[in-house]
Amino acid sequence: MNTDSLTHMRSQATQMATIAEMFAKDASRADWLTVDSCGIHADFSRQRINRPLFDALLKELALLDVAGKFARMYAGDVMNVTEERAVLHVAFRGTGTAEKECELAQAQLHSAFSLAQDIRSDDSVDAVINIGIGGSDLGPHMLVKALRRFCNGPIVRFVSNIDPADFDEAIEGLDPQRTVVVVSSKTFTTLETMHNAERARAWMQDAGVNWQDRFVATTAHRDTALAWGIAPHRCLEFYDWVGGRFSVSSVIGFPVMVAVGEEAFQEFLHGMAEMDAHAVQAPLEKNLPALHGALWFMNSVIHQLPTVAVVPYSHDLGQLPAFLQQLVMESNGKGVESSGTAVAHATSPVVWGEAGTNGQHAFFQMLHQGTQVVPVEFVSTVVPMGHDALAHDLLIANMFAQSEALAAGRKGVSSHRDFPGNRPSSVLMLDELTPRRVGSLLAMYEHSVAVQGWLMGVNSFDQFGVELGKELAIDAAHSISQGAALTSQTLTHPLMNWFLEKKRR
Ligand code: F6P
Repeated sequence: MNTDSLTHMRSQATQMATIAEMFAKDASRADWLTVDSCGIHADFSRQRINRPLFDALLKELALLDVAGKFARMYAGDVMNVTEERAVLHVAFRGTGTAEKECELAQAQLHSAFSLAQDIRSDDSVDAVINIGIGGSDLGPHMLVKALRRFCNGPIVRFVSNIDPADFDEAIEGLDPQRTVVVVSSKTFTTLETMHNAERARAWMQDAGVNWQDRFVATTAHRDTALAWGIAPHRCLEFYDWVGGRFSVSSVIGFPVMVAVGEEAFQEFLHGMAEMDAHAVQAPLEKNLPALHGALWFMNSVIHQLPTVAVVPYSHDLGQLPAFLQQLVMESNGKGVESSGTAVAHATSPVVWGEAGTNGQHAFFQMLHQGTQVVPVEFVSTVVPMGHDALAHDLLIANMFAQSEALAAGRKGVSSHRDFPGNRPSSVLMLDELTPRRVGSLLAMYEHSVAVQGWLMGVNSFDQFGVELGKELAIDAAHSISQGAALTSQTLTHPLMNWFLEKKRR
């Protein structure tokens, strides 16, 4: 976005009436700021936005040719310019015109479904442990919890952390003879994953299990997985044109396929495909990912609010904030534009959150009366997810009340008991928590992140910022194994020496 537009929008924002005043003046506000699509009702009417700013954002989206960019993405054009790669996670949903990649994606899914079915129908399997981290963990992990009521296969557990406690906890109560291990890693080199995979292999070998019959790999580096010992027919592949954090619809979804079966996973993909189509077809003013992305952009860049709280009023969607942290921050937490020049404004917001109503009894005090304004994204479902309809009504009542209180505030009681109000929030309500609707929701977030990146001018599809820490960790691990601090890591040198000394005692 050029500086003039940004300056103009910021000045529109500072002259804006409060949310309550805008509601009072405009009876149609809830209509033009609400979108209903793909089973999602999105109410953006309690955002800090008026008609002129809304129109200015739509103009920016049109100038960017968001629909055209999605079409280029779906066609397999190089959208990840810094790594010169296509961005084709949509191929797994049958979306797009990149015929060769769509065919490959469908063939890869077919192999994954078939292996998942073998495992589901194998009486000698009680449990599956997925070993993976980041995009190779967060999406499937969140989905297995979100689709809990559809799980009818073996137990599925997840190990991501290099902390040995994570693996220890995952194998608790499991029999290595009756467990399948899935090593999920795009690169098949990630330190945490490979270490945990070695532990799992040793766990099986110690129990006399032929581990190769019990291991599956999902990876974009088949040769590396085979060299590690994965049996060729148990190695599920995808390609570099699927980014880790966008990989949940690829074979990285394998643990979910085992948990819920092919039919439910296909439903999930259908829900994603519906949102893929909506993203290119819907007019901008009713385009869910375009508007959602523009509003997140508005809060970060125009209103300059540095964080956003994602608060699912859905126990089963409890992992959504963790999933979105990677999707949003790894994608758009950048300091340079795609061209390499420094960005002149904020990029990714800090994403955080926790399921409601628990969050109300933890951090909502700060949201209502603290000095920092935090936009809140509430997410819930119309249909209850448990067996207590009254409890669900109370859950929804709490969510609506929080959104009202944040925006309306309350004045005139006392300085301690007053609420400033004018605090923005959105409410996204899914018809129900089915595979299809969760698919639409996740595809909406994937596309929203791309829209935010385009508005910010950054490349959402690379993640060079994770590299330095990984490189230094290898050197630091060497220091620890050798018992001598590296002189090159000068700033942590005293700390490393202290640790090595403690370890020696
Ligand atoms: O550290 C970041 C990252 O590269 C993510 O982008 C990725 O999802 C994660 O690590 C795991 O990588 P892999 O699937 O290659 O093990």
